[in-house]
Amino acid sequence: METRAAAPRRLIIAITGATGAIYGIRLLETLRRLGGVETHLLISSAGWLNIQHELQLGKEDVHPLADVVHSVRDVGASIASGSFATDGMIVAPCSMKTLASVAHGLSDNLITRAADVTLKERRRLVLMVRETPFNLAHLRNMTAVTEMGGIVFPPLPAFYNQPASIDEMVDHTVARVLDLFALGPALSPAWPGLRDASAE
Ligand SMILES: Cc1cc2nc3c(=O)[nH]c(=O)nc-3n(C[C@H](O)[C@H](O)[C@H](O)COP(=O)(O)O)c2cc1C
Repeated sequence: METRAAAPRRLIIAITGATGAIYGIRLLETLRRLGGVETHLLISSAGWLNIQHELQLGKEDVHPLADVVHSVRDVGASIASGSFATDGMIVAPCSMKTLASVAHGLSDNLITRAADVTLKERRRLVLMVRETPFNLAHLRNMTAVTEMGGIVFPPLPAFYNQPASIDEMVDHTVARVLDLFALGPALSPAWPGLRDASAE
């Protein structure tokens, strides 16, 4: 009997023009370090603005972090089709504009098309939305994406792990996001519980 080879593990990473480009870059660095996952990278033009402004990085620094780099205009790319198997997609960070396009199924560039495909194929879509404060359109769009099966994951730092640096804060958030894809052993340590002496 003919056997089918196991599908390679693949993740689509998109960086859009919200502040926090470090999250997308750290995701790529972490996946490269862990190995075993083919990464497909998309960066919007506003995403590039923020990468250059916040991190002083250029294409020569960022492109080698991914296995495949797609142009946002290339709506005929492999990842524009549901027949191309992936484990899902992370938009890190996700602007309110990209959130709105995904919420309304616009598919107006390869980022929003790949997100649309991820949702229609019932694969995992994580949007690391970043804005503050939120207006009603933002909140409604987050609700719509959640209703469609997407995960809205604003990169809010945790303090219970007592981070000593921005790097530790970013790493903690990135580990939590990647753990949603169950790519291997958990990256973020399980919360051991806190003893509340007053409750005894
Ligand atoms: C320095 C800078 C910071 C920005 N930060 C945010 C942000 O935190 N959240 C957001 O929704 N948009 C932010 N924007 C605006 C988006 O970049 C803009 O709406 C853009 O059209 C988003 O397009 P994209 O989703 O295709 O990347 C920022 C823009 C700049 C230049």
